[in-house]
Amino acid sequence: MQNHLNDEFVFRYKLVGSVEYIKSGKDQLFLSKMVKICCIGAGYVGGPTMAVIALKCPNIQVAVVDISTARINAWNSDTLPIYEPGLDEVVKKCRGKNLSFSTDVEKHVAESDIVFVSVNTPTKTQGLGAGKAADLTYWESAARMIADVAKSNKIVVEKSTVPVKTAEAIEKILTHNSKGINFSILSNPEFLAEGTAISDLLNPDRVLIGGRETPEGKKAIEALRDVYAHWVPVDRILCTNLWSAELSKLAANAFLAQRISSVNAMSALCEATGADVSQVAHAVGKDTRIGPKFLNASVGFGGSCFQKDILNLVYICECNGLPEVATYWKQVIKVNDYQKTRFVNRIVSSMFNTVSGKKIAVLGFAFKKDTGDTRETPAIDVCKGLIGDKAKLSIYDPQVNQDQIQRDLSMKKFDWDHPVHLQPMSPTSVKDVSVVWDAYTATKDAHGICILTEWDEFKNLDYQKIFNDMQKPAFVFDGRNVVDAEKLRKIGFIVYSIGKPLDDWLKDMPAVA
Ligand code: NAD
Ligand code: UGA
Repeated sequence: MQNHLNDEFVFRYKLVGSVEYIKSGKDQLFLSKMVKICCIGAGYVGGPTMAVIALKCPNIQVAVVDISTARINAWNSDTLPIYEPGLDEVVKKCRGKNLSFSTDVEKHVAESDIVFVSVNTPTKTQGLGAGKAADLTYWESAARMIADVAKSNKIVVEKSTVPVKTAEAIEKILTHNSKGINFSILSNPEFLAEGTAISDLLNPDRVLIGGRETPEGKKAIEALRDVYAHWVPVDRILCTNLWSAELSKLAANAFLAQRISSVNAMSALCEATGADVSQVAHAVGKDTRIGPKFLNASVGFGGSCFQKDILNLVYICECNGLPEVATYWKQVIKVNDYQKTRFVNRIVSSMFNTVSGKKIAVLGFAFKKDTGDTRETPAIDVCKGLIGDKAKLSIYDPQVNQDQIQRDLSMKKFDWDHPVHLQPMSPTSVKDVSVVWDAYTATKDAHGICILTEWDEFKNLDYQKIFNDMQKPAFVFDGRNVVDAEKLRKIGFIVYSIGKPLDDWLKDMPAVA
């Protein structure tokens, strides 16, 4: 699709009542009434994205709505429901001016010209496609509600990550219930990463907008592009057809996760051969065709989306008769699971093949630094593996509280590969977990330390003091390669770092899953 509005155009915006006139450099006059945006879903995507739109578009009223009263109350308080660097400042600047948070979903949807839908789209846990397909229950109920309450034409924007062709299903729901109202569906997937959400939103690599290639579809694309053009250079706003936009989002996450599984697979080989994964990744990443980013070996990727979106991709491939393609992508998750199991096995085998009754300090529980989000964090699987061997865990994360950790560890684990063998943790084993508020308490009297999140503060702890207060031999298992292993070895620690040459102690211990 062609870009209608490009660099040579200079936009001037003039707000007259509720009608906005947009004048372009080519003296075309666009008349648009789009001064109100509503976003259904006040989560990790909806909240920050709408806050940035409000910041950059003072002439647009932005309402973020959610069915969760607790979440909305938190958005309206001094303690926002999510931790994200820079978010507080943006929200404080706009809240009460052109940004509001409300549980009155229907009212704000009815009043809006553009409705973003940013509800959760988890993996289905029951029924057809369980373990792989996306659960679109929340999406469908949002679509039905939009159709019910709409009294004027609307642009409905898919912000959630959805299976390719979802827009078609949503279109059917909206048009079959439309009472003569016109709905234009756009796909505008979000690429922000947690921990850097605000800078990603302020300075995106690209904004992707997919729409129908009809005159109405093109108009809708232009309207949404006008919103982003307030701060995003037009050459970074990509316009495609609906299906390409939907699939590009799944593809982008699959490619990113695949890089991590590739480097993690190499980390196992590095340990077996004496190569150093950081050196290998550096050498490989210097090839400009490959590039240096996303090549940090780790205990495994986590987060709410990589696994969910790849499983969704696998399911779509299977449904389209492409089993070989499905198997290819499934392997990215299998290697991720292998990496977590390998890490647990390293710990247990290094500590005389048992951790029963031993105190293990777990530093970091969030799925990455600078977020309090624990969804699909590798820490859950590692902790469960250690508890399974009867370890006593003392967990510290600067942003995750005890309730969250207890909830995560006692939650039924959905085994995507064997959905029938669901095993909840017994409440008694979770009792062997304590959650503390600093790294020194966590490590006192511990036999070993596992670093599971790359929080900066773990680089600069007083490891001599920690060593003095631990049981001996004292072990460090660094799942994020954040500590200076040589320095720690000089203190007396036995150190395991992912993908690095092994200590003599570890060399003869089998650690293959
Ligand atoms: P989230 O769970 O944090 O937020 C979703 C919110 O939607 C919840 O607060 C929930 O109460 C609300 N909700 C559900 N149904 C509703 C309804 N019918 N009406 C009103 N509110 C409703 O999820 P998230 O992390 O923000 O992700 C949202 C979507 O964005 C997902 O599809 C995800 O794959 C995608 N995504 C997430 C990220 C990320 O970093 N988290 C990045 C890019 C894309
Ligand atoms: C990821 C993508 O980066 C975003 O572009 C996308 O929008 C988002 O998923 C989504 O769709 O939800 P996010 O999961 O927030 O963002 O965070 P990432 O920085 O991608 O990290 C994901 C996981 O991979 C983390 O556990 C991280 O520690 C791990 N990781 C990342 C590595 O193990 N090694 C790396 O080199 C990079």
